Amino acid sequence: MFMNFRRIRRCQCVQLVMTGFVLSVLMVCWVQLDHHVENRYLVNSYDFINKSFGISQQESESLSNFLYLINHHDKCNSNEVLLLLFVKSSPENLERRQAIRATWGNENYIQRELGANVRVLFALGVYSNPQQRGSVQRGLLREDQVYGDLVQQDFVDTFHNLTIKLLLQFRWRHTYCSKARFLMSADDDIFVHMPNLVHYLQGLIQQGARDLWVGHVHRGAPPIRQKDSKYHVPYEMYQWPSYPDYTAGAGYVVSRDVAAKIYQATLFLNASLYIDDVFMGICANAMGVSPQEHVYFSGEGKAPYHPCIYDKMITSHGHVADVRRLWKAAMDPQIHDISSGQVGKLYCTAVKIMLLCKPYYLNTYPCKAAFS
Ligand SMILES: *[C@@H]1O[C@H](CO)[C@@H](O)[C@H](O)[C@H]1NC(C)=O
Ligand SMILES: *[C@@H]1O[C@H](CO)[C@@H](O)[C@H](O)[C@H]1NC(C)=O
Ligand SMILES: *[C@@H]1O[C@H](CO)[C@@H](O)[C@H](O)[C@H]1NC(C)=O
Repeated sequence: MFMNFRRIRRCQCVQLVMTGFVLSVLMVCWVQLDHHVENRYLVNSYDFINKSFGISQQESESLSNFLYLINHHDKCNSNEVLLLLFVKSSPENLERRQAIRATWGNENYIQRELGANVRVLFALGVYSNPQQRGSVQRGLLREDQVYGDLVQQDFVDTFHNLTIKLLLQFRWRHTYCSKARFLMSADDDIFVHMPNLVHYLQGLIQQGARDLWVGHVHRGAPPIRQKDSKYHVPYEMYQWPSYPDYTAGAGYVVSRDVAAKIYQATLFLNASLYIDDVFMGICANAMGVSPQEHVYFSGEGKAPYHPCIYDKMITSHGHVADVRRLWKAAMDPQIHDISSGQVGKLYCTAVKIMLLCKPYYLNTYPCKAAFS
């Protein structure tokens, strides 16, 4: 594959750069248009959150204090932990967990190849269908005996209980892993470029790694009022025209201090709002924390398959069948060669412009990622 790209490199280079220039002009216009659309929804101040969502500690415990059915309280006991990574999984998603264990979530690989201490745990509730709950639960216990990486609480594992799963993650971190420098929450159908993530986090530590909440940011997103939408939120639950800024739940990272603040917020805020990433935004807003955009954290978006993308990407959404194949391709040691040197950099910028800056809606990284 790389050989072909090398051969076409020289003759197409000029053409690519020209296309890139035209597209970047288009992009600038486009971004301005985007902001214009977003601004209509912005609420000036979210001061109503404390007042409207505030509940007593007793009430908040009744929403979050579920019994642990499977737990590993010593999982974080070892040396300095760089990252505690929670994968939001569901009891039936064994195949996805297996793929993650064999690829980006493999702690031994991360330790050996990257020299980093990362702890990967799968967050679960109980199987939604009561008839099969017993047998599925026995399967989970067997799985956990082999891998020792499940954390399960006694709530029904459904889409509308995702906020309970959010509370599980922050509570578990507070109780058992409060020393980890970072906490990541990820879906079980995303791909994480672990070396890129680890290097990024190690770089942040140099700068102090405080007050950080990074991912794909939704700004001023309005609540969805269509009743048939998965994300429908009724007025009774949230009456304002936009949510506080939040990062897409597919995958985001917070620093230790922010994780502690979010946990504090969960103790006095009403967690009935069942869209977990939106609720996270509400908690953060109450504590004065704002999310930061990173162009290579995807929300719903999927990374294009290309070595120049692998060189930069952090997360990509919508990977189930191709996780192992993508891991193999993205970990190829030749990847760095293709983007190294002046020519390599120019070539990769041109390729990324071609892949990311299309003049119609495209579900991948934003065009500006081509220039970073
Ligand atoms: C969430 O979990 C609780 C506790 O198991 C359960 O009573 C409730 O029905 C679940 N809610 C949804 C929407 O599944
Ligand atoms: C929490 O919010 C839900 C839904 O908006 C509401 O029905 C419930 O009464 C609230 N709980 C408290 C204790 O205020
Ligand atoms: C909301 O309440 C919490 C706890 O009482 C407080 O720490 C925080 O500063 C308040 N946030 C705002 C925006 O008033």
